[in-house]
Amino acid sequence: MKTTPIIEKLLKYIKEKPLSYHTPGHKNGQFIPDNLSKIWPEEIWQYDVTEIFDLDNLHYPEGCIAEAQKEVARIFNAKASYFLVNGTSVGIQASILALSYNKPIFVPRHVHKSIYSGIILANAEPIFLPVSYDDELGLPLGVEPNILKNYLSKYPQCKTIVLPNPTYQGISYKFRELVTLAKNNGLQVIVDEAHGSHFCLHNALPPSGLSDADIIIQSWHKTLPVLTQASVLHLGKGYQGPDISIYLNMLQTTSPSYLLLASLDGCQAFLGRVGYSLIDTTINNINNFKEKMTGLKNLKIIDNINNELIDPFKLCITSCKISGYQLSDILRVKYKIYVELAEENYCLLIFPINIENKNLSRLEEALLQIDLYCSNLSLKQFTNLTNVNIIPERKILLREAFFSEKEIIHLNEAEGRISGDFIIKYPPGIPLIIPGEVINKEILKILRKDILGYKVKDGISVVVE
Ligand SMILES: Cc1ncc(COP(=O)(O)O)c(C=O)c1O
Repeated sequence: MKTTPIIEKLLKYIKEKPLSYHTPGHKNGQFIPDNLSKIWPEEIWQYDVTEIFDLDNLHYPEGCIAEAQKEVARIFNAKASYFLVNGTSVGIQASILALSYNKPIFVPRHVHKSIYSGIILANAEPIFLPVSYDDELGLPLGVEPNILKNYLSKYPQCKTIVLPNPTYQGISYKFRELVTLAKNNGLQVIVDEAHGSHFCLHNALPPSGLSDADIIIQSWHKTLPVLTQASVLHLGKGYQGPDISIYLNMLQTTSPSYLLLASLDGCQAFLGRVGYSLIDTTINNINNFKEKMTGLKNLKIIDNINNELIDPFKLCITSCKISGYQLSDILRVKYKIYVELAEENYCLLIFPINIENKNLSRLEEALLQIDLYCSNLSLKQFTNLTNVNIIPERKILLREAFFSEKEIIHLNEAEGRISGDFIIKYPPGIPLIIPGEVINKEILKILRKDILGYKVKDGISVVVE
């Protein structure tokens, strides 16, 4: 058994100095636009091959891709694992098609837009579950188990649920309890683990869906060292359902990038070798960093929200003096530190699984200086602009509204109209309103605040009634 089967096959192929009479058009890096040849090493192009002899086939893997996927399944204790070259989004959509085609599905309202598109593709009937919020920070936590219990008895015909684990902000909200409740009631559980690829690698991290859910989809590119878009779908050990590859093959490209596949392959071998110890060391480094940050007076690191489990690799910083937007701006402009997400009341940063001390020191120095700068400022009024703790009234079904005739109207005319489109800001990619829901005063108030970034100045799509 090779430890990096895809990389080894690529190396063997490149060593032959092959003459390419096939795709891609750059012919193993022989024809590179000059502006790119100056900045990308030629070797990178040589690895950008296609599914030719001996390099296997992502849609029907039998060789090096199959071997690498098996290795991932072993490391992650999955029944089977599948490489994804179009992010977690494609894995989520395939899962919903596989388990919920034409059927009801429980969906917490704070989920990522790929879940909504999966629902539209599958003509599934979403049953939206209300979500608890942290009022102070204005961020979503998750579904209360009691609420799920009520919905389970109200909708006994619904046999699938999709749960995010963790949220964008790294909160793994009552996850075990929710999965157990769902499984005990005969549901199949799809877990959007886009932000939790590292969870099952170390027991000090929040629980992964891999222990008892049915389909778990992870954006390795978000927290692990692989190229952007590279993700993995795992089947849980107890998965009993349709062959997921049928749905993945329908949605994934027939020209998968070997740069992405090789990055997944390299990462799986790396994790198998040093995953636990690396994460162990990094958690220690992060804890030491947080310990040093306890002296901050005007900035605060949030490491406890409602006593829920939070991913230590996510750093949520709030301030009594400046907004999350201001903090993000100062970090970027003055210190060239780019954060993942800024909201009114907090700023979110993501640590790599292997953080070097010099990078931690640079962040530490910046936060100490900003803290000092803030001491002369007056206290900030805490406003909760983003708390959309409400599910807007729904007049028509999501899919029906999505495909219906629409018109674009000005915000001033939109109250009471049915939304024809998703209104989403990215990050975090969670819709404020979805097709079929009624645009109300609260929603309009949020849309009118430029600072919140919903970008709907020129008009809003509504269903023609
Ligand atoms: C919670 C959540 N789920 C799913 C996705 C989709 O992941 P990908 O970008 O890998 O398609 C994202 C991306 O931001 C996300 O934040």
